[in-house]
Formats: sequence, C-alpha cells, structure tokens
Amino acid sequence: MACKIFSAFLTFLLFLLHLHFSAGLQQTDVQAGYWFPASGLLASGINSTLFTHLLCAFADVNSTTYQVTIPSSNQAPFSSFTQTVQKKNPSVKTLLSIGGGGANPETFASMASQNSSRGSFISSSISLARSYGFSGLDLDWEYPSNSTQMTNLGTLLNEWRAAVDSEAESTNNKALLLSAAVFYSWNYYSVLYPTQNISNNLDWINIMAYDFYGPGWSSVTGPPAALYNPGNQVSGDSGITAWIQSGLSAKQIVLGLPFYGYAWNLTNANNHGLFAPTNGAAISSDGSIGYSEILSYIKQNNATKVFNATVVSDYCYSGTTWIGYDDTQSISTKVSYAKGKGLLGYFAWQVGDDSNWTLSSTG
Ligand SMILES: *[C@@H]1O[C@H](CO)[C@@H](O)[C@H](O)[C@H]1NC(C)=O
Ligand SMILES: *[C@@H]1O[C@H](CO)[C@@H](O)[C@H](O)[C@H]1NC(C)=O
Ligand SMILES: *[C@@H]1O[C@H](CO)[C@@H](O)[C@H](O)[C@H]1NC(C)=O
Ligand SMILES: *[C@@H]1O[C@H](CO)[C@@H](O)[C@H](O)[C@H]1NC(C)=O
Ligand SMILES: *[C@@H]1O[C@H](CO)[C@@H](O)[C@H](O)[C@H]1NC(C)=O
Ligand SMILES: *[C@@H]1O[C@H](CO)[C@@H](O)[C@H](O)[C@H]1NC(C)=O
Ligand SMILES: *[C@@H]1O[C@H](CO)[C@@H](O)[C@H](O)[C@H]1NC(C)=O
Ligand SMILES: *[C@@H]1O[C@H](CO)[C@@H](O)[C@H](O)[C@H]1NC(C)=O
Ligand SMILES: *[C@@H]1O[C@H](CO)[C@@H](O)[C@H](O)[C@H]1NC(C)=O
Repeated sequence: MACKIFSAFLTFLLFLLHLHFSAGLQQTDVQAGYWFPASGLLASGINSTLFTHLLCAFADVNSTTYQVTIPSSNQAPFSSFTQTVQKKNPSVKTLLSIGGGGANPETFASMASQNSSRGSFISSSISLARSYGFSGLDLDWEYPSNSTQMTNLGTLLNEWRAAVDSEAESTNNKALLLSAAVFYSWNYYSVLYPTQNISNNLDWINIMAYDFYGPGWSSVTGPPAALYNPGNQVSGDSGITAWIQSGLSAKQIVLGLPFYGYAWNLTNANNHGLFAPTNGAAISSDGSIGYSEILSYIKQNNATKVFNATVVSDYCYSGTTWIGYDDTQSISTKVSYAKGKGLLGYFAWQVGDDSNWTLSSTG
C-alpha cells in the first residue's frame, strides 16, 4: 500500500517536472523587427538570424490614386530588402509595412471609405509585395479615429484577405501574410477596433505598447512602455488584456518592444524617481532617444541606472537629465510575459536603435 502511494507520488512528481520543462521550453512563433532606413542602419547590416520576420518600413499610400508605392529615395533598398536579409537567414520572412506614424491618417480614412479606393490599395499592395519578393504586408494606419473609420477598416480587411487568398490560389503561391500595427488597446479613446474582422482576416496584430509617457504629453517622468502600471490604466498588460477580452486570440497578438526611450529635464535633480516633476524634454526636441545612444549617454555621464520590476521599466539619470527606456531586464521580462500569456510573439521598433544586437538577442 505504502509502495503504491509512493509510486503514485513519483508519477505525480514526474508530471510536475514535465509541466515545468514544457513551460520552460515554450517558444514564440514570431520574433519580429521593424527596419526603418532613416536609422542609418543598412539592410545588409541587420543580423537577420535573430528574427523570424523583418518588417520593411514604410511604403506610402498615394492620396490621389490610393495606390501603395515605395518612396523613390528608398526604391533600391526596399526592392532588394528580402534578398538582402535572406543572405544571412534564408528562412526569415519579410513584410512591407505601409503608412507609419508620419503618414496622414486621413489618407487611410478616405481610402478605406470607398470600394474603388480600397480596390486600388489592395491590388497595388499585392503586386508590389509580389514584385519584390515580400512574404507579406503590414498595415500601419495610426489611427482609425471614429466608428465609421473602424467599420471601414473591417471592410478593408475582409476585402484584402479575400484578394490575397484569391491571388494565392490563382498563382499557386503561398498566401501573403497580413498584419497590422495597432494601438496598445482595443479601445482607442472610446472608439473600438473591429476585433471580429481583425481575427477573421489578419495573421496577427502588432501591438504598439509604448509611448505611454513622453515629455511631449507628460509633465512628469514615467515608464514610456510600462508592462504594468498600478496607478493608472495605461500599460502593456492592460492593452493585451483588453484585446483578449474583446475576443482576439492570444495567438494573433504580437507585443511591441521599444528599442528607444524618452528623456526629460528634471525640475529638481534630487527628485529622480518615476513620476517626478519635469520642465520639458532633454537630449532631443521631443526627448526620443535610441537604445544605443542611451548606453553612450550612461557611459559618458556615469548615469545611475534603475530597473523597476513593479512597472517593468528601466530608467537612468544624471544631473537633471532623466531617461525612461527598456534595457535587457525590461525586455527579458516582457519576452517571458509574451510566452507566459501564449502570445504569438513580440516585435521591436526598431532594429537600427539596438546596440550590438543586445536587445534583439535578449530572450
Ligand atoms: C548575430 O546573431 C548571432 C546569434 O545570436 C550571433 O551568433 C552572431 O555573432 C551575430 N552576428 C553579429 C554580426 O552580431
Ligand atoms: C500620386 O499619384 C499621382 C498620379 O500618379 C502623381 O501625380 C502624384 O505625384 C502622386 N503623389 C505623390 C505624393 O507621390
Ligand atoms: C469620421 O471621420 C471622417 C473623416 O475621415 C468624417 O468624414 C466622418 O464624418 C466621421 N464620422 C463620424 C461618425 O464622426
Ligand atoms: C468592392 O470591391 C471588390 C474588389 O476590390 C469587389 O470584389 C466587390 O464586389 C466590391 N463590392 C461592392 C459592394 O462594390
Ligand atoms: C466584421 O465582422 C462581423 C462579424 O463577423 C461581420 O458581421 C461584419 O459584417 C464584418 N464587417 C465588415 C465591415 O465586413
Ligand atoms: C533643466 O531644469 C533646470 C531646473 O531643474 C533648469 O535650471 C535648466 O535650465 C533646465 N534645462 C533645460 C535645458 O531646460
Ligand atoms: C559614478 O557614479 C557612482 C555613483 O553612482 C560613483 O560612486 C562613482 O565615483 C562615479 N564615477 C565617476 C568616474 O564619476
Ligand atoms: C517602482 O515604481 C513604483 C511605482 O512608482 C513604486 O511604487 C515602487 O516603489 C518602485 N519600486 C522600487 C523598488 O523603487
Ligand atoms: C558585440 O557582441 C558580441 C557578442 O554577441 C561581443 O563578442 C562583442 O564584444 C560585442 N562588441 C561590442 C563592441 O560590445
């Protein structure tokens, strides 16, 4: 009898051990990075072995014809992007990202409002992706801002998916991947994304879980890309939770990791914690600063570094300069979070800001 109980106990222990190892070995399917040539990094300089997907940013939407085009200054590097990054990693997939923070959201709104302009957008995007060998397309409309625009986004996604599937069938190619970069939450200032249409038509969404605090819109220091924020609703976790509660599967969610931070000028050099008073941006006009520059700043100024595990953010300060950003501890905590929640993966904005591939290789 005692032996039987012991044996059952052993079996149970082995089961626990198995659970432990399965969790420990859990992988994400998407480890993506945006490449933005203005960073100065050449496509040939990307360590593509560190990524499953690379997004080439950005193609434009013509405000008259609604066709997707590559800006002439980027024609050469974009057209050879896939070939270039596949030299180091033949299995890396590439997506052409359309729009971005610098594009006019009204162009997207008017494109999405008419069947004919949606048609121009859709057919030109597919031809462009195919002619340059991209594996997919990424819609970066920042942001659809009223309920009509959200409904039109849903219609656009339905028609885009139908066109992509029919193109794949008629050419016998693998269907292009379709993704979209979206607000950190399903709820964009009380306007709701069309989750069902997203779920039915996109392979995944890239959640921009950053820019929560910056000197342009916050007079106090703050964790620019907090994973948690007990004092406030704005955090990566609250956004992911909202998207899942709206009905989207975790397996269609890719969490954004910023490879940059924001610098403020402290009002009082001795008050240098989170949520400390400031009197404006430091270092650059909007305070934004890439990770490799942050490391140089820390080295040159012997800045003090702090990791706050409650909010999951790093910051550093020297004199009256205070910089909030994600260093390796924040990135690895977020990667573990993505695995623990069963998300499809994570992406970096943007790979040119990394320092010697440190953050890109943080698992
Ligand atoms: C690229 O990443 C791989 C995998 O981490 C590493 O072995 C290699 O040294 C990196 N190459 C460069 C040039 O950083
Ligand atoms: C949009 O397309 C029209 C017609 O082809 C062209 O004349 C115009 O220059 C394009 N606009 C931009 C901003 O490229
Ligand atoms: C939504 O925005 C568009 C402009 O893109 C505007 O024409 C329309 O009237 C707005 N609709 C609502 C319901 O506010
Ligand atoms: C809208 O355009 C698509 C092609 O992009 C077409 O298949 C569809 O029938 C059109 N729908 C309407 C209502 O015009
Ligand atoms: C979005 O999805 C819902 C639910 O499947 C569907 O009823 C609706 O027609 C879709 N919207 C558009 C604009 O296609
Ligand atoms: C930064 O704030 C301090 C007060 O703490 C002020 O004396 C200084 O002029 C400010 N610097 C800039 C560049 O705004
Ligand atoms: C750098 O700062 C630390 C405290 O943060 C101090 O102990 C050290 O002496 C400083 N080093 C230099 C070279 O200023
Ligand atoms: C981290 O930040 C939170 C929120 O501001 C604060 O309450 C907490 O004390 C900080 N933790 C540490 C260890 O400084
Ligand atoms: C860059 O990282 C590699 C390991 O990935 C390391 O061997 C090398 O020393 C690093 N270079 C610099 C300049 O930090």
